[in-house]
Amino acid sequence: MEPNESTCRICGGRVREFFDFGRQPLSDYFPSEEELDNEFFFRLAVGMCVTCTMVQLLEEVPRDRMFRYDYPYHSSGSERMREHFAATARRLIGTELTGPDPFCVEIGSNDGVMLRTVRDAGVRHLDVEPSGGVADVSRAEGIQVRTAFFEESTAREIAQEHGPANVIYAANTICHIPYLDSVFRGVDALLAPDGVFVFEDPYLGDIVEKNTFDQIYDEHFYLFTARSVSTTAQRFGFELVDVERLPVHGGEVRYTIARAGRRQPSPRVGELIAEESRRGLADLTTLEKFGAQVKRVCWDLVARLRELRDLGFYVVGYGATAKSATVLNYAGIGPDLLPCVYDTTPAKIGRRLPGSHIPIRSAEEFRAPYPDYALLFAWNHLDEVQAREAEFTKQGGRWILYVPEFRIS
Ligand code: SAM
Ligand code: TMP
Ligand code: ZN
Repeated sequence: MEPNESTCRICGGRVREFFDFGRQPLSDYFPSEEELDNEFFFRLAVGMCVTCTMVQLLEEVPRDRMFRYDYPYHSSGSERMREHFAATARRLIGTELTGPDPFCVEIGSNDGVMLRTVRDAGVRHLDVEPSGGVADVSRAEGIQVRTAFFEESTAREIAQEHGPANVIYAANTICHIPYLDSVFRGVDALLAPDGVFVFEDPYLGDIVEKNTFDQIYDEHFYLFTARSVSTTAQRFGFELVDVERLPVHGGEVRYTIARAGRRQPSPRVGELIAEESRRGLADLTTLEKFGAQVKRVCWDLVARLRELRDLGFYVVGYGATAKSATVLNYAGIGPDLLPCVYDTTPAKIGRRLPGSHIPIRSAEEFRAPYPDYALLFAWNHLDEVQAREAEFTKQGGRWILYVPEFRIS
């Protein structure tokens, strides 16, 4: 095996690397002052399987390092995402959870953002969530939680204890799980004969089109397409029966999977796969071109930040996102170019961004006298952040975006 190759986690084929982000830290571990010398690093490289077209990372970070008791990401931190998940839950309740005593399992509900609505509707449910802190938040709200990683063995136990699930749902979680074979075998053990496995994750088509390269980080092991998901589903006796493009997190697809032959697939599935072929999403040359664009945008960002600093402007970061690790560590941006970053998450405040060690300050402290510019790492929450910080622009402050490329708005 060449150094820029690995073995596909799905089919055993050859994964050919198309971009290397270099040495990267855990994206969701915000070290305290005392922990700065003990950070974990790995090589963040991404490739495509030449056999099944699944885009995946070449190196896997051990799951217990990422999903710990103190996993700092809280899904309910965004109002838009709270609305998105409430609407998703209402839809599942109205369409799939309609029989007598339906059962809904969520994989990775985090702080219970989606299951809250399911609980309110009195529907039997279970969250499988390994990160103990966020699991405790859900539990305190009366949501049923099992603190565990979803995999084949967990699914078998749940099936024994609770019976079959009519819906198995996951958002921004299935792409985090390298052992997808075990997940599919688990879904096979747990899903009712006519049940559905529904999951939504960042879509490779949007990542390439909008150059949202910072969606690539340790937790996002897979970058799915309709084609790669469909092929994977088939390997495990399932069928991709519907796809829906979602505007959240810069562009996602919601995949609906049923047991093979149990549901009539929507024409949307074939249409999206055909569109992916037209766009060359399974061609290494397309992905290599995307890589060249990433490189250009990152070097441009560094040059523009240096220019602003040298002109005497004060530029800070906004949103201590997991995504920010990729761009900061790849481009080598540190406190000399961005002295601090502001965020609303209590668990992140007073700590440092991973790798770059930029200090994180409370969004409450983002107030007059304002900086001249704020580089927005939480670009997926642009409207919400701009509304929250309307005073900043009123007083002459400007937002900087770096996807699809450098732009002062
Ligand atoms: N569903 C929420 C959302 O969309 O905002 C949470 C997304 S969060 C980025 C990913 C979650 O998946 C984390 O809370 C993590 O603990 C959980 N997770 C990771 N591996 C998992 C596994 N094997 N089974 C269940 N949950 C998992
Ligand atoms: P995400 O892009 O992974 O959803 O993370 C968003 C981060 O941005 C999270 O740390 C919370 C933070 N944030 C703010 O600081 N202000 C805001 O208005 C919003 C919506 C998020
Ligand atoms: Zn493969």
